[in-house]
Amino acid sequence: AKFTLDVTKSKKISNTLLGIFFEDINYAADGGLYAELVQNRDFEYTISDTKGRDATWNSTKAWSLKGETASYTIDSINPIHPNNKHYAKLAIKKTGVALANEGFDGIAVKAGEKYDFSVFARATDAKSAKLLIRLVSKNGEIVAETSTQTIATVWKKHNATLTAKITIADASLEIIPQMTGSLDLDLISLFPQKTFKGHKNGLRGDLAQTLADLKPKFMRFPGGCVAHGDGIANIYNWKNTIGPLETRKPMRNLWGYHQTVGLGYFEYFQFCEDAGAEPLPVIAAGVPCQNSSTGGAGQQGGVPMCDMENYVQDILDLVEYANGDITTKWGKRRAEAGHPKPFNLKYVGIGNEDLITDIFEERFTMIFKAMKEKHPEITVIGTVGPSFEGTDYQEGWDIASKLGVPMVDEHYYQSPGWFIYNQDYYDQYDRTKPKVYLGEYAAHLPGKPNNIETALAEALYLTSLERNGDVVSMTSYAPLLAKDKHTQWNPNLIYFNNTEVRPTVGYEVQKLYGENAGDHYIPSEISLSNNQENVKTRIAISVVQDTKSNDIIVKLVNLLPVAVTASVDLKNGNLGSNEALKTVLKGDPSDKKAKPIVSTRPVSELMNAELPAYSFTVYRIKTV
Ligand code: AHR
Repeated sequence: AKFTLDVTKSKKISNTLLGIFFEDINYAADGGLYAELVQNRDFEYTISDTKGRDATWNSTKAWSLKGETASYTIDSINPIHPNNKHYAKLAIKKTGVALANEGFDGIAVKAGEKYDFSVFARATDAKSAKLLIRLVSKNGEIVAETSTQTIATVWKKHNATLTAKITIADASLEIIPQMTGSLDLDLISLFPQKTFKGHKNGLRGDLAQTLADLKPKFMRFPGGCVAHGDGIANIYNWKNTIGPLETRKPMRNLWGYHQTVGLGYFEYFQFCEDAGAEPLPVIAAGVPCQNSSTGGAGQQGGVPMCDMENYVQDILDLVEYANGDITTKWGKRRAEAGHPKPFNLKYVGIGNEDLITDIFEERFTMIFKAMKEKHPEITVIGTVGPSFEGTDYQEGWDIASKLGVPMVDEHYYQSPGWFIYNQDYYDQYDRTKPKVYLGEYAAHLPGKPNNIETALAEALYLTSLERNGDVVSMTSYAPLLAKDKHTQWNPNLIYFNNTEVRPTVGYEVQKLYGENAGDHYIPSEISLSNNQENVKTRIAISVVQDTKSNDIIVKLVNLLPVAVTASVDLKNGNLGSNEALKTVLKGDPSDKKAKPIVSTRPVSELMNAELPAYSFTVYRIKTV
């Protein structure tokens, strides 16, 4: 294959093309990115989290009492806060009994590392004393031990630090009251001190770093379907997710479990800042998932029009929370949480894959107009509807065009073949229409995990997204994270358990695009020998320039079962270096473990570059 390109013919493309899509699906938040080690810390699990499917899923989930000399019940009289009604009430006849938590599939700790324990406690009679706190292995070995101060007769938060003596994947936490009588406990929490960037109430270091390593230009949160919920009562409300943990309002996760919302809007904004990603919160357009009717009586359709004014105000308040100065009502709340400086929010998504109905249009229009009037500085991203087979996107696009929505979010999960044969999807896109945020996509092989075949199909398609980077402004693979044994969706980009993080080959493709992003696209002409013409959809090139470093980046994908020699003729490139940094990801189509191999090669190799069978090659070259 011969590629001829002229640097002087470059066009500007989006500098936010590659981002991440974070949704609390597959235990991505609690038990995942959110570093809390105690499961059901607030005793707020309820059978309705699982829609009645799991009878063991209640306030006692993950808790047990060890010993015979006490009993415990769940109470809700005089809770710490009305948003956290339930707590554990122990009646202790004799000391020695422990209230134990099994964590999320065990509690993993590392030798020598410190862990912050905290608890709200109240000893309602006078025989008060301290709580002994332990991490204990399955065979009873004490992994760490500390104690709290004396417990008062009113709710009070107690803190203590545990230092792990050994590394262990499945410890449990034990609270051993050194007292008899009545004791109330709530919000029992254990965090590693080593969180990402050391924040309190922070994120798991290894997982957060794996996300940051993608060099995402933005992060969308909190979903996906989690953002709009399956019924209006289940719409994610950002205001319930900020402030002191005991005042946050936990909720049912529509993927069948519980959200503590300990990882809430403040933490999302903070992570975006830490990762250098623009925050992209997605708010329901006043309608739940596909205008769902699963939320029970009165839940169908959308937020009642009489409540829409308040609903719109909540969205305007979010902008104030993120960007307002500390004298504003919501800016002050952000400052109180420890971030006086604004988070510099630039994008807000409204809606997620909603059925484009009159109910949707009426509410979306109201929100969009209010945002445009009050916050013209914010880019509102609309939605064009669900990605189900046979759905007609047209109405969503029409509404967006009619209202002048600057960008729309579209989703597709398709086969590798679809991605290979639809590389021209945006080539003919009417440039007067809204810009595109490809908010969810992935190449799926039915019933199979990510492999080189899916990853290269995505790499190939991403060359077309860079080529159309004048209209495609943002993209994010979905879903991002999945915890072993807790997946509701497959495949995902990164798998993990309590001690391991396993990025997939698809992750390697995303990372190469994230690390090698450009803001100018250099068009190229391709000429193939006769015997290559019929396979040209399986070979692709994208050349971009990053005007910050001035580096030119050449990406080449070969999805053929044979090696191909590519000759890349870079006209007027002013190459400042004789050397190029070359990265190759290759493997058999079914390979799930391939890793990129990096080397330094002479730039002249581009005139005669061998692209191995099933490979993705990136050359990064300095210019003068
Ligand atoms: O990414 C998983 C789900 O797919 C998202 O929650 C939803 O938006 C889409 O249907």
